[in-house]
Amino acid sequence: MVSHAYDRIADSYDEDWCGLYAESRRRAVGQIVAVLSDALDLDVADLAVGTGNTLDALYRRLSLCTATGFDVSTGMLRKAFGKLPKRTRLIHDSAANVEDHLAPASLDLVLCHFLLRYLEPQVVLSRAYRLLKPGGYFSLVTSTQRSLLETYTGRFEKTGRLLGVRAQIAKGGNPLDHASSIEMLQQYGIEIITDNLYREGVTFRSFDDVRAWAFESGWAAEFFGQRPSLRTGFTWTAFALAEVLMRPLYPVHATSEISIVLGRKPS
Ligand SMILES: C[S@@+](CC[C@H](N)C(=O)[O-])C[C@H]1O[C@@H](n2cnc3c(N)ncnc32)[C@H](O)[C@@H]1O
Repeated sequence: MVSHAYDRIADSYDEDWCGLYAESRRRAVGQIVAVLSDALDLDVADLAVGTGNTLDALYRRLSLCTATGFDVSTGMLRKAFGKLPKRTRLIHDSAANVEDHLAPASLDLVLCHFLLRYLEPQVVLSRAYRLLKPGGYFSLVTSTQRSLLETYTGRFEKTGRLLGVRAQIAKGGNPLDHASSIEMLQQYGIEIITDNLYREGVTFRSFDDVRAWAFESGWAAEFFGQRPSLRTGFTWTAFALAEVLMRPLYPVHATSEISIVLGRKPS
């Protein structure tokens, strides 16, 4: 289960190898603050609050009236609880069930950051759309399916194939590329306000880097979390095998690709 996988990495999640989450967040928050800095008493929901970093940034820069965070992982929620003001509503439930907790047309801003991997866009976007007030904003941050792909099709091909990485990337709701992210929002009637494609070169210099990226970023949690039949022992065997196979390949250069879009429900 994805929730258990994130429970296991909750303590190290904020170490954020290469700072990819921090930079994505900085850009998304910049887009939001640019349009909402003068607004008062905003009602905000984060559909996958994780360790609470994005709501934390918004509390510091915007006037929030209510803030609600959903997550399926109690470990991640515990970290968010320690970081966010106590008036924050933290709800242990899937973003698929947000409408059980929030009234229609009640939100000024909905955050959907690194969630599409786990929920189909139609589930997330239809619910978010109904929850937004007319004129409310939707902030999307998502890895694209192209992210890091050249790694697996290049020097990593054999190892990637062995670990089933390509098939894993294609699973879930992540859009193919940045243009698909934008189209997806438009299909749900969301107007695009700002968009940004964050591409960042990353270098794996040793297996320690691979391990840090895979576990601290949550990728391993995603990868193995989607295969509940796999036992931890298998996880470690696969990583040990990858370590041996990858030894001659370093340094391995790849490009991470993250799509960051701010949209708006028409007034
Ligand atoms: C990569 S983390 C992103 C966390 C946060 N949004 C951020 O930007 O740092 C993915 C989060 O999604 C949560 N998650 C996975 N499936 C979910 C679901 N169906 N509903 C709500 N949260 C979910 C995980 O538990 C994890 O905390």
